Amino acid sequence: MPNSQLSSEQLPKHIAIIMDGNGRWAKAQGKPRVFGHKNGVTAVRKTISTAARLGVKAVTLFAFSSENWRRPEEEVGVLMELFLTVLSTEVKKLHKNNLRLRVIGDKARFSERLQAKIAQAEALTANNDGMVINIAANYGGKWDIMEATKAIASKVRMGEISLNDIDEDLITQHLTMADLPEVDLLIRTSGECRISNFMLWQLAYAEMYFTPIYWPEFNEDSLIEAVSWFVDRERRFGCTGEQLKALMECN
Ligand code: IPE
Ligand code: IPE
Ligand code: MG
Repeated sequence: MPNSQLSSEQLPKHIAIIMDGNGRWAKAQGKPRVFGHKNGVTAVRKTISTAARLGVKAVTLFAFSSENWRRPEEEVGVLMELFLTVLSTEVKKLHKNNLRLRVIGDKARFSERLQAKIAQAEALTANNDGMVINIAANYGGKWDIMEATKAIASKVRMGEISLNDIDEDLITQHLTMADLPEVDLLIRTSGECRISNFMLWQLAYAEMYFTPIYWPEFNEDSLIEAVSWFVDRERRFGCTGEQLKALMECN
């Protein structure tokens, strides 16, 4: 049995997901787009619990891009309400499971109520040492690089560092998620094959997995399929979903 030796070393350490297709999924059933967003929450739950059981170190979920403010006001409103509700209902569970929750993105544009909820959730889970869950909200890859640039420029101006200190490592350190393993697997659902201004710098070497299924349909088996694909790309020979499930049993 040449494939029975699958070890957790071969799994991705940091998985980033562009959760796309909520609107089309809802429309296909004659429902309003927001029905898709509400059902997307189930897929988030399944993804988090499966990734944690696989022993992944970090999962970054793209929930709302800097460009998504351009959507109809009503849809944006429902999405904001959904964040609030989900933060209220899910955080205790995450904490109980030793998971760390962080929200990355420009939080200043959110309502004070939402900002307070985010701060509360982050503080509650800050000392957990299990998997990190990053929710990318009002996040943009260009924004991330711009913020890092401002921080570095300000240090140069203050004389804390010199121009020659600026190298790739220094830029990486000033980006969000600098303390986490590099993203090694990017998943995008719904058949679109673009980055949509998600992490730009951090995806430099990520394997990219595009699946046609819509986000609300994404489940444990979908994640296992994506991770098997990743392992097979690295190892160049087939690993099976069964092996991954066996690894999950060990964790
Ligand atoms: C992704 O689904 C969720 C968010 C961007 C908030 P969409 O809302 O983009 O769904 P489609 O792509 O229109 O089907
Ligand atoms: C990207 O999806 C953002 C999120 C999943 C949150 P979009 O559906 O907004 O991206 P585009 O507009 O199709 O590129
Ligand atoms: Mg979309």
